[in-house]
Formats: sequence, structure tokens, C-alpha cells
Amino acid sequence: MSEQHLYYGDYLQLDKLLGAQTLESAKHGPPVHDEMLFIIVHQAYELWFKQIIWEIDSVIELFGQDVVDEQNMGTAIARLRRISRIQTLLISQISVLETMTPLDFLDFRDYLFPASGFQSAQFRVVENKLGLLPGDRLFLAGAEYTSRFSDEDKIRVKALEDEPSLFDLMERWLERTPFLDYEDFHFWEAYRHAVQSRIEADRTVVQTNPNLSDAEKQAQLKDFDLVLNQYEAIFDPDKHTLERDAGRLRLSHRAFQAALFITLYRDQPALQEPFRLLELLMDIDESFTTWRHRHAQMALRMIGRRIGTGGSAGAKYLEKSADRSRVFSDLFSLSTFLVPRADRPILPAGILDAMRFRYEE
Ligand code: HEM
Repeated sequence: MSEQHLYYGDYLQLDKLLGAQTLESAKHGPPVHDEMLFIIVHQAYELWFKQIIWEIDSVIELFGQDVVDEQNMGTAIARLRRISRIQTLLISQISVLETMTPLDFLDFRDYLFPASGFQSAQFRVVENKLGLLPGDRLFLAGAEYTSRFSDEDKIRVKALEDEPSLFDLMERWLERTPFLDYEDFHFWEAYRHAVQSRIEADRTVVQTNPNLSDAEKQAQLKDFDLVLNQYEAIFDPDKHTLERDAGRLRLSHRAFQAALFITLYRDQPALQEPFRLLELLMDIDESFTTWRHRHAQMALRMIGRRIGTGGSAGAKYLEKSADRSRVFSDLFSLSTFLVPRADRPILPAGILDAMRFRYEE
């Protein structure tokens, strides 16, 4: 092999990569067979985390501009889709690790203390770059999530809390959505009117239904009031602020309106890609939650009710963390506020025209 030709093993630095599986058990006695799987699965995760960070960084770069170049939308969508596909792999990888039985794990688990996946700095980088809020994090035995990091990892991860996250940039991009106000059309007013008309129509149906007793009518009318209350939380900017302060909603009022607009009119050509983007953010959010629950189930199966090697309450801590660690939950809340296509406010011809793709000779 001539020297100037690139060699497969050199290009991939396989000497480093394949020389990096040191069995802790072998330092204490005979090597435990399944520890190799344990190490390789964790290393594979870290490699994929690196790829995910690479993709998030590029999307942050594209969306960090004052105006997102239309040509970059397709690139951003393709990269978010790649993250979502990687997540599918990450979830299915758990079942490979589960071919190791709890008894096999006990053969080397004691050698791992106090190391834990809790110390995966790259996992925290992903969370912070996506936009997980510091206030939504759980404490582990009274200590914050970076408490078990080396100084270097701590500085790297904490610094990201002050950087614009994917959530922040998506929120700003949503706030810039055109068409919400166009000449004398105001989407929010028109939407509010459509919702109120629908609720009033449903109310009349109940009130005039001869088959319902008075008590049944009262019960059903009370349900409408509850629905109306939910809508008030988004119609009334002050109530929306209260919802945000209480942590039940996160997007700004304007960004929430834009996300609803995109979702309602997603068939319009100009909104198809923005809608795809919102869907992918939900896919990514949902897949991380699925991974967290799946990981918690695996931990329960492996260690039962024992504490984790990092000192947490084990599976119980992990389930709680899964429920708390959502970033784009507002996008899931949108479904509460959708109206059927037939009830959507009719968009003025000028907006429809502006949202069309057209080729003219
Ligand atoms: C035998 C397999 C595994 C068991 C029993 C296990 C168990 C645990 C437990 C109990 C915790 C809570 C912290 C602690 O007390 O240590 C934890 C955290 C964590 N583990 Fe695992 N784990 C396993 C495999 C993995 C793998 C393959 C990954 C992939 C990187 C991983 C990533 C994480 C992460 C990121 C956390 C922090 C989660 C959070 O704080 O919400 N774990 N693990």
C-alpha cells in the first residue's frame, strides 16, 4: 500500500476507537464477559450524541440569523429529521443492552461506583442546546445536575444555559411569521370569533335538546365553561402571562398564535415547510421522552429498587426526570385549541395569494 493513499483504519483512527474498551472488571480479577457490551453500548451512545450536537449546532446557526433564508429551511428540516432518525436508533439500542441480565450486571456493577450516565456531559449539552430550562431540572440527592461533573465539563455545560437555544430561536422565528395581521384581517380576532361561535352553537344544541334532563344540560353546559376557560388562558394576554409564569406554557403569546396559525393552515404552500419543522421538533421532544422512559424501565429491570451508581433513587428518579424534561410541550398543547377545518376563519384572498407557489411563463 503506497503511503500517499488514505488507509481505512487511519482515516477512522480505529486504533484509538477500538483500543478504548478497558474492562474495569479485568483490573480486579477475571474479565466479566458482558462488560464489553456495556462499554460499547455507552460509547455508541456518546458517538451518536456527538452527531446530534453537530446537527443541532448547524440548525442553531441557520436559525440564529435575523431572517432565516428560505433556502435554509430545507436544510434545517433535513438535519432535524436526521436527529429524529438517530433517536429511533438510540431507543432500539436499549434492547441490545437488555440482553445482559441483571445477574450479569451485578458481576461488575460495584466496580462502576460512583460513575453514572448522570455524568454524560454530552447528554446535558443536547438538553441545553434544545432549550431545557434550568428550573425544570431535578436535583439529585440535593445537588444540581452538573454537581458530579469535572470542572471542565461543568463550565462547558453551564455556559450553554446563557446561550440562545433551539427553543429560543424557534420562538423568535415564530414571532416573525407574516400573515397574522394583513390589512384589516387579524388572525387572532378572527380565530377567537370562530371559537366563540362554535362554542355558542354547541351550547344551543345542548340547551334545546329535548332528550336531556335539566341536570344533564347543566352538567354539559358546565363542561363548555371549562373549555372556554382553557381558551381564555390563550385569548387573554394577562392570563397567558400567568400561565407562562406558572410554567404551564412557555412560548410567547405571539409565537403561540403563529404556531397555531401554521398548524391550522398547514396545507397552504408557504406553510408546509414551517409545519414540517414544528412536527419534527415534536418528534424530537417526544423521542427523548420515550428514550427516558425506556431507559427508566431498563434501569428498573437491571437494578430493581436499588439506588443508582450516581446516588439517585434509581428508576423512580428517572421516571420523574422523564416527565419534567420536555422542551417543546407548547407545540403539543396546540391540539387543545384546534378547530375543525370547516370552522377555520376564511383567509383573505391577498394572504392566500401571497402563500401560493406559482410558476408563470
Ligand atoms: C445497565 C444499564 C443502565 C442502568 C442500570 C442505568 C441506570 C441509571 C440510573 C439509576 C440513573 C440515575 C442516576 C444515578 O443514580 O446513577 C441513570 C442516569 C442516566 N443514565 Fe443510565 N443506566 C444504564 C445505561 C445507560 C445508557 C446505555 C446510557 C446512554 C448514554 C445512559 C444514560 C444515562 C443518562 C443520560 C442519565 C441521566 C438522566 C437524567 O438525569 O435524567 N444510561 N442511569
